[in-house]
Amino acid sequence: MLTVIDHPLIRHKLTIMRNKDTGTKDFRQNLDEIGGLMVYEVTRDLPTRDIQIETPMAPYVGQELAKKVVIMPILRAGLGMVSGIMDLIPTAQVAHIGMFRNEETLKPQVYFEKYPKDFPEAEVIIVDPMLATGGSSIAAIDMAKAHGAQSIRLVCLVGAPEGVNAVEKAHPDVHLYLAALDERLNEHGYIIPGLGDAGDRIFGTK
Ligand code: URA
Repeated sequence: MLTVIDHPLIRHKLTIMRNKDTGTKDFRQNLDEIGGLMVYEVTRDLPTRDIQIETPMAPYVGQELAKKVVIMPILRAGLGMVSGIMDLIPTAQVAHIGMFRNEETLKPQVYFEKYPKDFPEAEVIIVDPMLATGGSSIAAIDMAKAHGAQSIRLVCLVGAPEGVNAVEKAHPDVHLYLAALDERLNEHGYIIPGLGDAGDRIFGTK
């Protein structure tokens, strides 16, 4: 299932990010802020359980999150979305998955993975700003499932229809969230209009 989170603040901040004249500091800050705004919608249906507490005035039955949350950035651009989400879910743990494209097989090849202990029971939020062909997102979901994850959400900033279709076909059980669905991929696999190379813009590389 696809949800495009349409909100004036997100549209405003994403336009700043898309602008080629926006520098690394403002790009990162707006990505952080959009991550926080998106997580409000992404976590809307997280399960809660009752908890008995005392207010200064009276006993009270409140609510707490019933499951741990694990944020799983796909290295390296996914790292740019972690802190904005952590601001809203400070108890979240972070799993990491690193992959690069094998130039012979053209398939994503995993070079690093690290998971917290309770990963299989957690709500897993995989993050990667750009959903282009969907290859790395599908591979990350494959890895998360292979490590026992039962409930997975995929959060990207900008998606191309090609990537959305590929993820929905490979993993129909995963809820996909975008801040914007763009027009298409170009012949080099970049999203049009997109925002360029997210990793380079986050980390100031070329
Ligand atoms: N990765 C990026 O960083 N940008 C794109 O447009 C596509 C993939």
